[in-house]
Amino acid sequence: LPVDLFDLVIFGGTGDLAVRKLLPALFHRFVDGQIQPGSRIIGVAREGLDDDGYRAQIRSALNGAASKQGDQLDTFLKLVHYRPLDARKDAGWDDFAKLMGEYPDNVRVFYLSTSPDLFVDICQRLGGYGLNQGKSRVVLEKPIGKDLASANRINDDVGRVFAESQTYRIDHYLGKETVQNLLALRFGNALFEPLWNAGHIDHVQITVAETLGVERRGPYYDHAGALRDMVQNHMLQLLCMVAMEPPSSLSPDAVRDEKLKVLHALKPINETNASQLTVRGQYRAGVGEGQSVPGYIEDLNSSSKSKVEHSSTETFVALKAEIANWRWSGVPFYLRTGKRLAERVSEIVVAFKPVPHSIFTASAGPLAQNRLVLRLQPDEGVKLWLTIKHPGPGGLRLRHVPLDMSFAEAFGVQQPDAYERLLLDVVRGNPTLFMRRDEVEAAWRWADPILAAWAAGGESPRPYTSGTWGPSAAVALIERDGRTWDEDFEQ
Ligand code: BG6
Repeated sequence: LPVDLFDLVIFGGTGDLAVRKLLPALFHRFVDGQIQPGSRIIGVAREGLDDDGYRAQIRSALNGAASKQGDQLDTFLKLVHYRPLDARKDAGWDDFAKLMGEYPDNVRVFYLSTSPDLFVDICQRLGGYGLNQGKSRVVLEKPIGKDLASANRINDDVGRVFAESQTYRIDHYLGKETVQNLLALRFGNALFEPLWNAGHIDHVQITVAETLGVERRGPYYDHAGALRDMVQNHMLQLLCMVAMEPPSSLSPDAVRDEKLKVLHALKPINETNASQLTVRGQYRAGVGEGQSVPGYIEDLNSSSKSKVEHSSTETFVALKAEIANWRWSGVPFYLRTGKRLAERVSEIVVAFKPVPHSIFTASAGPLAQNRLVLRLQPDEGVKLWLTIKHPGPGGLRLRHVPLDMSFAEAFGVQQPDAYERLLLDVVRGNPTLFMRRDEVEAAWRWADPILAAWAAGGESPRPYTSGTWGPSAAVALIERDGRTWDEDFEQ
């Protein structure tokens, strides 16, 4: 169904995220008929472009996606506008406010795809022109701050202009099909929920592996690192979706209340235990997507003006988290994420406990764990590993095989990108898949002591060769507990 008419303003409109993700997402929704003429998409950035200049940039970025829909692209681009603005300077703001005033009934969405340092300046300007009134919403891209204190400052200052109900903190992992499917699997099937606890689950693994390096984002990334960039937000959100209690409904607060309880129940990792529970790594030269690639420091120097010889920023983290509540007591959640790893793959593995007693002889072969694997990317889908009898004569031999469902194969459609769903949810005014302020704060409250422990320890991240699965210490982290990282996709 088409959504209400809207004006979507993208601050940071010429940036990587806008051009690579947001505009293509909007274009796809337009092609599907969900965005009607009368809606506008307004790019805002410091570059001195006009509407046509911006449209030309967007046209070339969309060309791949749009090759089959040439005239649709022309119609779509008519909805796109541009205004040069600097959040910290007055010039252009009057003109911008006038533009916004032209369609007073449109839902207004201000998407802040900028550095978090600018969030407050932008919001204050918007408030100054009364653009926070009525059907206005603000979208904050992660990271919200770099620790709890800075996140609080941003949330307080943004909160003076936009009410919490108007504030959408985006975590695009929540828009991924498989993550939403986790809700359907857990709460739409009678099969899993009775087993979804420490009595039956041995451990959970969450892997988000990327093959790319830091690319052009070195200046941002070097101040963030993998814990702030991926774990504090995306990975904790995945963990929450696996671990939360059944919400009483899918209403935004019912879901977010349950996620918050999980965040509050995470056991602290701090100076006393960080060295046993966490591993940090940084990539060196090696192989990335079949090509030889430089190491992190070289990547950093090629994307930033100031040159460095050393950086203690991690591009890889593995850690063992635990949730101190009845459902999960004693069940480790192993998390790992990194850049320039061997494959681009994100998945959640729920590993069940073994059967209590084996009736099979040794010649049947070993019994393996049941595992439920939720693949976020590539090829989104669900796999359930079962033990069966090897077919045919030859005695009772056990085989471990997957019931495997690829969403693309099963439904014959390409899954929409996470941003497509989330952008329209903002227009619809549905914040279920967005982070509430208290969630962001709880996530920082858990992450801050880890960062502090690393800083106090003063150790450099362990080097790993690009194209591998990270430092060997990450393997040791899980093997110490007699378990191994899921290797199904590593073959
Ligand atoms: C972003 C991080 O939030 O997520 C990036 O800042 C990372 O560093 C990206 O590459 C991964 O997203 P996806 O959807 O490609 O897995």
